[in-house]
Amino acid sequence: LDNFCKTKFLTDHQCWFSLHAGGQYEYILVEKRGEKSDVGFIQLNRPKALNALCEGLMRELRQALDVFEADGEVGAIVITGSDRAFAAGADIKEMQNKTFQECYRTDFLAHWNRVSQSKKPVIAAVNGFALGGGCELAMMCDIIYAGEKAQFGQPEILLGTIPGAGGTQRLTRAVGKSLAMEMVLTGDRINAQDAKQSAFEMTLAEGNHFEKRLFHATFATGDQKEGMTAFVEKRKASFQDS
Ligand code: CAA
Repeated sequence: LDNFCKTKFLTDHQCWFSLHAGGQYEYILVEKRGEKSDVGFIQLNRPKALNALCEGLMRELRQALDVFEADGEVGAIVITGSDRAFAAGADIKEMQNKTFQECYRTDFLAHWNRVSQSKKPVIAAVNGFALGGGCELAMMCDIIYAGEKAQFGQPEILLGTIPGAGGTQRLTRAVGKSLAMEMVLTGDRINAQDAKQSAFEMTLAEGNHFEKRLFHATFATGDQKEGMTAFVEKRKASFQDS
């Protein structure tokens, strides 16, 4: 383990967490910070994929949250990414060939809700891209601190699908119906200043379940296959409304 930590440039705290979680984290860096070690710090760490939220990363995130929740010393949890990307969304390469049946049967993305169910306050420290699932992950947190380079967006429409982890619901509450619809229907991004200006509270109603079912249903369409395949093949999607 010592060698592993040295080759991965981990601090003693991060090493301890690698051990404590019963294995080494591959996609996140985890440590306790602050004078009293009372801040649970989780950094998404898949730089080459702009912190795309693959299943392995989300599993590790849940594990780290479990560890911090059980740790009496920890008062609050911070989730962050890099300067370039908080997270560029769910992993499109992993999702590309999923069928409707698979999404429905496994209740795809349902586990992501773990973040919003944390018993301790969770803060998202966002810079760079917070797109799709990345934007949704930030919105699952209790507080968002956004840097100058932060860009929020729900670009799923450009992939032939819709937000599937609460985006249509939480974005509406965060920035209001009008801007949320514009963002979800165009895929356009906003910066931290725009987000702050349009933020206001709305009544919370449970729409996530309905949204997830619609999200799953997009995997039965040709446009979802075309949208995600086009992304992976680095070309513009040619949607046929199929
Ligand atoms: N999934 C998988 N890989 C991703 C990814 C994602 N969401 N986003 C970026 N990557 C990968 C790219 O494929 C690329 O990998 P390769 O070098 O192996 O080709 C690498 O990260 C760097 O990306 P780019 O070369 O595209 O970098 P860029 O600076 O030109 O563009 C970007 C950055 C605008 C964020 C662009 O990568 C992009 O549009 N990403 C996809 C954003 C998106 O559509 N997110 C929504 C996903 S669906 C979703 O999240 C559903 C949900 O509700 C949960």
